[in-house]
Amino acid sequence: MGAVVIVDALWGDSGKGKVCAHLAVRDKAPLAVRAGVGTNAGASVTLDDGTLVRARQLPTGWINPGTTVAVGSGVLVDPTVLAGEVARFDLDGRVLVDGRCALIEPGHVEAERADAHLAATVGSTCTGNGAARADFVLRRARQARDEPALAPYLTDVARHVNDVARDGLVLVEGSQGTLLSLAFSDEYPYTTSGNCTAAAAMDDVGLNWRLVQDVLMVVKALPTRVGEGPLPYELPEEEVLRRGIAEYGVVTGRPRRKAGRLDRELLGYAAMLNGPTQIALTFCDHVDPAMRGARDAGAITAPVRALIEQVEHDTGAPVVLLDTGPGLSDMIDLR
Ligand code: IMP
Repeated sequence: MGAVVIVDALWGDSGKGKVCAHLAVRDKAPLAVRAGVGTNAGASVTLDDGTLVRARQLPTGWINPGTTVAVGSGVLVDPTVLAGEVARFDLDGRVLVDGRCALIEPGHVEAERADAHLAATVGSTCTGNGAARADFVLRRARQARDEPALAPYLTDVARHVNDVARDGLVLVEGSQGTLLSLAFSDEYPYTTSGNCTAAAAMDDVGLNWRLVQDVLMVVKALPTRVGEGPLPYELPEEEVLRRGIAEYGVVTGRPRRKAGRLDRELLGYAAMLNGPTQIALTFCDHVDPAMRGARDAGAITAPVRALIEQVEHDTGAPVVLLDTGPGLSDMIDLR
């Protein structure tokens, strides 16, 4: 056993949350841990009863009732967002937070909203993450262990992650996307406030690299971007609407800019940085509507088959999961 590190290849919003939920249920993972920057991320999964789940702080692995969910010490914690998710998803007794996580305070959110550079130029989610990280780096942040409301959840998550991964499966859910990485994007300042690679995710949760079983890189078949910065092959908004493939941000509700195809060179760069051993190819129904809701490998159409071959060539890793629609079960598992 060991850890599966789930990261996004491009600009995020590729369905990492759904992939994490699928693996938690399929493999009955005892532990899922959130890596990544913090609450600027938004994961959404539609359960089979039609309930739409939206999460910003906790990994979606909780959808499996036997999975404990944790937040690694490198991830920023907003106590209000955390409390909301614990209550909404009824997770009391199943949540662990590292006492060393830096806190996002209301003042951080206000400061980002008032910052024209972040709000207008960068197109930040203005959820306080960058401002809180700056305070952490300057060593004046409050940490989770300083907040009495978080006391019931506190533990050494790094120690727990390594302990569990020695005998069982740990799912590490990254956030944002590789190309939004602060120090690996060529598009600074159109980045988030930390790196979003597999190595960064391991660091966020304190995972010993020897315990990594797989790096599962999620590739969105038609990439999207929210906020500013270049998006190769960007489709005009009218075409996105005409094709019925419009998407809106989980955190901000902003329409996502959408590309008509993958940029093969950028995908290769993401593969070089992450070293994936497995690929999940998501939003296949946006490439070919005939794939919508397919759950069987026999339903893979010629355009999607061609895309799988291309992605496997460009990343050097096999496609093991195909996402075919918004529902949790709209998935073809090729494992
Ligand atoms: P910030 O990290 O909220 O300051 O946002 C900086 C940039 O990263 C903006 O372009 C955001 O739209 C983008 N961003 C931050 N988090 C996410 C995410 O989870 N998915 C996609 N884009 C994100």
